[in-house]
Amino acid sequence: MSNLAKLLNKIYSAETPDLKDLEQVLFLTQRGQLDELFSFADKVRKEFCGDGVLLRGIIEFSNFCSQECFYCGLNKSNHKLKRYRMSKNELIEAVNYLAFCNIKTLVLQSGQEDNLDALWLKDIILEIKSKFNIAITLSVGEKSLDEYRIWKQAGADRYLLKIETFDKKLYESIHQGMSFEKRIKCLDDLRSLGYQVGSGIIIGLPGQTLKTIAGDIAFFKKMDFDMIGIGPFIPHENTKFSKGKPGDVDLTLKTIALTRLVAKNPHIPATTALGSMDKDYRVDGLKCGANVLMPNFTPQPYRKFYEIYPGKRCVDEPVGNCNFCMDGMAKNIGRFIDYSIGDSLKFRDGSRDKGKLSPLVGTVLL
Ligand code: 5AD
Ligand code: FES
Repeated sequence: MSNLAKLLNKIYSAETPDLKDLEQVLFLTQRGQLDELFSFADKVRKEFCGDGVLLRGIIEFSNFCSQECFYCGLNKSNHKLKRYRMSKNELIEAVNYLAFCNIKTLVLQSGQEDNLDALWLKDIILEIKSKFNIAITLSVGEKSLDEYRIWKQAGADRYLLKIETFDKKLYESIHQGMSFEKRIKCLDDLRSLGYQVGSGIIIGLPGQTLKTIAGDIAFFKKMDFDMIGIGPFIPHENTKFSKGKPGDVDLTLKTIALTRLVAKNPHIPATTALGSMDKDYRVDGLKCGANVLMPNFTPQPYRKFYEIYPGKRCVDEPVGNCNFCMDGMAKNIGRFIDYSIGDSLKFRDGSRDKGKLSPLVGTVLL
């Protein structure tokens, strides 16, 4: 067995990954070595998640934001951005089309809107749940335990709250006025209410190092997230990080692969950011550990105004086109689109399954 194979097996088998091991793999640049890592992660993905690619249809219903994240184009100081909030009717109409396209998970996303009316969103959740057989993932930022509870009781199933980096110092330096502890508390609150919880990070944030990313991967394991999104940083001109360098694609793919090795069975999307670089790298993501794609169902004319970063994929695509495109993407690499609801794989026999080592994978890999 090569030294790299030994190292990858050690990372894969460890109860708690050694940060130095993770850093060593993140440091690799040789093509052959990267391919070895990616194919290892691909086998782990196949073993724990199968060959199906799950779809999460996203509707970005409002781009209002009360925060000042240094990387994000929706930040409140970006006065050049036209702000919108879809009406309830527009939203239900968009969900109707998403359901017609056979999508079984709806992600409702907005900026961190402090004025978001919890009861307005509750009514929408109730109506969607009464009309359609789909799972609802909310992604509307930091809220109170009471608000999270209201939406859970109305029928919301999952919640996506990215931590962006698990390094407290870095987190607080790029999120003016926000607290790392508050973010973690929100994640804990969501879990305690029974949501399936997703989080994730950005690769290439100014100030981030390989050590930071190794820490992030170890934290993913500790937090036992049901979903983990990892995407490259893309600089936006109306942000504090306008002069930042775009995140490195290989480093993003290495992080996806290592996350699959360490965390085993979370759902991992090939993110839209990965599809919005100099070319579309989402297929590469699917080949190194990812098992989810996120078609955009935000209707026009709003879609172009949800500009978290420039060059976002599919901005001019007619709603629904992403489906066909994703079907082709999956087939091209011998996979298929899985149109099931795609709940967390971390619940088995009624309790959380931490992604135990499978003897089969052990045999295949060793
Ligand atoms: N580059 C890449 N990803 C970004 N996000 C926000 N801004 C950027 C950017 N400039 C990601 C964050 C956020 C999600 C909606 O988009 O992870 O949580
Ligand atoms: Fe949107 Fe390809 S994913 S058109």
